[in-house]
Amino acid sequence: MCGIIGISSNKSVSASIISSLKKLEYRGYDSAGIATLFEGEIKELKSEGRVDTLEQNFDLKNLKGNIGIGHVRWATHGIPNSVNAHPHSSHNVSVVHNGIIENSTILKKYLIGKGHKFKSQTDTEVIVHLITENLKTRELEEAITSTLKQLHGSFALGIVFKDIPDLIVGARRGSPLAVGYGPSENYLGSDSYALKSMTNKITYLDDGEFCIIKKDQVVFFNEDGKNINKKILELSSDEASYEKGDFKHFMAKEIEEQPNTIKTGIKEYVDKTNSEINIYNFPWNVNEINSIKLIGCGTAYHSCLMAKYWFEELTQLDVSIDIASEFRYRKNRFKKDNLYIFVSQSGETADTYAALDLCNKNNMKTCAVVNVIESSIARDVNFVLPIHCGPEIGVASTKAFLGQILILYILALKLASLRKEINNKNYKEKVKDLQNLPSLIEKSLLIDNDIQAISSTFNEAKGSMFLGRGFSYPIALEGALKLKELSYVHAEGYPAGEMKHGPLALIEDGMPVVVLAPRDSYYKKTISNMQEVIARGAKVLLITNKSKDEIVSENIWETIEVENTNDDLLPFLLTIPLQKLAYYSALKKGYDIDKPRNLAKSVTVE
Ligand code: M6R
Repeated sequence: MCGIIGISSNKSVSASIISSLKKLEYRGYDSAGIATLFEGEIKELKSEGRVDTLEQNFDLKNLKGNIGIGHVRWATHGIPNSVNAHPHSSHNVSVVHNGIIENSTILKKYLIGKGHKFKSQTDTEVIVHLITENLKTRELEEAITSTLKQLHGSFALGIVFKDIPDLIVGARRGSPLAVGYGPSENYLGSDSYALKSMTNKITYLDDGEFCIIKKDQVVFFNEDGKNINKKILELSSDEASYEKGDFKHFMAKEIEEQPNTIKTGIKEYVDKTNSEINIYNFPWNVNEINSIKLIGCGTAYHSCLMAKYWFEELTQLDVSIDIASEFRYRKNRFKKDNLYIFVSQSGETADTYAALDLCNKNNMKTCAVVNVIESSIARDVNFVLPIHCGPEIGVASTKAFLGQILILYILALKLASLRKEINNKNYKEKVKDLQNLPSLIEKSLLIDNDIQAISSTFNEAKGSMFLGRGFSYPIALEGALKLKELSYVHAEGYPAGEMKHGPLALIEDGMPVVVLAPRDSYYKKTISNMQEVIARGAKVLLITNKSKDEIVSENIWETIEVENTNDDLLPFLLTIPLQKLAYYSALKKGYDIDKPRNLAKSVTVE
């Protein structure tokens, strides 16, 4: 995680660095820092806390220099304080780093032996001293090449030099890094979002590459220090989607944007006139695929679980799912007839990328469902299905989740149709039903008053549970994740039928339990499980869909009814109240909704 920025310009850079750091805060926000070069000196300023605190602590307006680097941190090595904040500097080199240096202990010993003095507890500081050491005997490009070869682990780096004052070096292995081009200035940034207000012309570094950035020139190198040419991409300018508008938080805005997320997804993938799904150019023969493995982390993993239910319902494929951090270290049996689907909002999650890398090394068929189409995961799979939901800034994933499950559902339908595992009438009806989904989501969003009142009970409780069966089980897990992530309330998701095998022991008088019981084929079973928790004192919030049939159960604390649709699509609607529940719980507690404690949006370290 962590966000880095670098600017080489013909004018002062501190204001632009600070404004880019504010944009990058979604990547890490426990400390921040900046270093500029002015009159042959590196000036380094760092603070614990947010970029605002850095601004309050120092007179940044008067920080001079036409070359500079900045950093927002998500701590890996060493506590979040001003000493461990980046940049880290020696007498002539200053570095910002995103990633983890795995051999830092060995390198530190070696460098201490050479007389280098360390100030922080970070792994990053070894990079500073290693470059300083290598520069004693080598020219810049050679010193960078050999430094990068000595580092194990992952990094995106921005480096400035006191004695070479007209340039910034950027380098990448495992962590994302982009170069931007402006008028009489050039930039380095963790992502295009940070550079968006300055340029829409971007080049992404690939693993092993580094670059030298001057105000009027950028040169790229491969890992052996050989010059290479790279493409410049022109990104669309969609500034409005990076602003909160009238919303108090990005999360609130992103929840409300979901009808649009679904509308856009449908527009991209569904031919309304013919009730057909527009996914054609698969790079493999779909009949050669006999099994599917879906891989992701956190919310994206819940999307994988959701997709497993749909793929199993609609196709004859053998479907399994995996948490990326587990998959990457297990002894996997790679099978030629397996399709590996990687699900990720950012497309930069380190564990998910490592899982993909492993599959690529084994020549597997790979596909990605991602939001950021310029991301590493999107670039390195055989086939990409973008979710097109626009930038998601809130750390808690909302619209990306609905976007992911929409595309996965569409893919399941398409494969079922191509493999002739669904009859045509049924297929067309299901494709048609999708058209109503945006308006159903819109209506299901109108529950703020009910949810606000309910959320206090969750805040006051020691813990809570989220139960569901079948299609509702992944949504229960997602609801629990949202609540813990935002409100710091203990919340667990369970398959409703699993309660009596242990978790029921946790139920006590007044414990809030969310039961997801839409009127699908699991309804009666789930209602029985609900009665079992009510009998043990739970305060049940039942979430179901509207129906003529009454709910045949007593002593339900609260009920929320979402709109009605076919069983496959109910998970979309059930998700909405859970997102709002988490949002309002955190709002009441006054927590930082878009930047929950200890987290970051893009998890680019293991
Ligand atoms: O960018 P990704 O979708 O790969 O991120 C995966 C998880 O880190 C992410 O979904 C995380 O769990 C969210 N903060 C949950 O709201």
